[in-house]
Amino acid sequence: MSNTPSQTFNDATGTDENAVARAASYKSVYVYEAPVRLWHWINALSILVLGVTGYFIGSPLPSVPGEASANYLMGYIRFAHFAAGYVFAIALIGRLYWAFVGNHHARELFTLPVFNAAYWREVITMLKWYAFLIPRPSRYVGHNPLARAAMFFGFLVITLFMIATGFALYGEGAQEGSWAHKAFTSWVIPLFGGNSQTVHTWHHLGLWAMVIFVTLHVYAAIREDIMGRQSMVSTMISGYRTFKD
Ligand code: HEM
Ligand code: HEM
Repeated sequence: MSNTPSQTFNDATGTDENAVARAASYKSVYVYEAPVRLWHWINALSILVLGVTGYFIGSPLPSVPGEASANYLMGYIRFAHFAAGYVFAIALIGRLYWAFVGNHHARELFTLPVFNAAYWREVITMLKWYAFLIPRPSRYVGHNPLARAAMFFGFLVITLFMIATGFALYGEGAQEGSWAHKAFTSWVIPLFGGNSQTVHTWHHLGLWAMVIFVTLHVYAAIREDIMGRQSMVSTMISGYRTFKD
């Protein structure tokens, strides 16, 4: 079948005003403000650095022969871990500040409506949706209720644990009198029976808890982007949630 002149023009130029006129019109809502989005990606990057460098702190590379000053690899790895640790912790303080001054979606990460029956009904809907038991989920402007619970317990609680145990270990190296020793080491290590090796073990386990969260989180974000009724990944970039129906 040959093309009409206007179709040939459309194909050549990529413009097709008729198709646009017949297309569905989408609605968008501004959800995540710039500081939330900026924090999300700084946070993801710092966790990537913390996870990789932390793994090598726990399973160090074999020592290399030669002059020590030319072979400072484990030193650099530890330095990167501590620097990313500071970024991670300070960024969380900034994110907490934004929960107070930002829009109501900025508070979702820190609060969980556990005494609200409607909330739990939506959690069950989302569980069924992820298990392929229902054909259509609800439409969510903010985080879906299951994601919200995962972000609270799977991210926030683990993050606070990693900051407390991380700075407790850091304060051990920085020694008594340092701010980290006063603020964390002095009470976190006694909480674990006074043995910093136990703190190392729990801090190490936290890495795997975080790996599980990030794996499920990225899977769910991409799955919802494709199968859900609203945009996902682009929302954490542009701030706008676009509804597909
Ligand atoms: C270390 C890696 C990551 C961590 C720890 C993480 C953590 C989080 C947290 C805590 C939130 C809630 C944001 C808030 O309310 O302030 C969030 C939202 C989100 N993240 Fe990530 N994230 C990571 C990587 C990624 C990646 C790689 C993607 C993209 C594929 C992604 C996509 C999203 C999306 C789309 C949302 C919004 C979800 C919604 O609107 O319900 N994240 N993430
Ligand atoms: C998501 C966050 C984090 C992850 C996944 C992570 C991961 C790890 C891992 C796997 C280890 C090795 C533990 C071992 O087997 O001994 C480690 C050690 C350590 N981490 Fe973290 N960490 C995180 C956050 C932090 C923070 C916020 C700090 C604060 C500065 C920190 C400071 C330390 C210190 C001081 C050590 C011991 C270093 C050494 O003994 O050479 N970490 N981390």
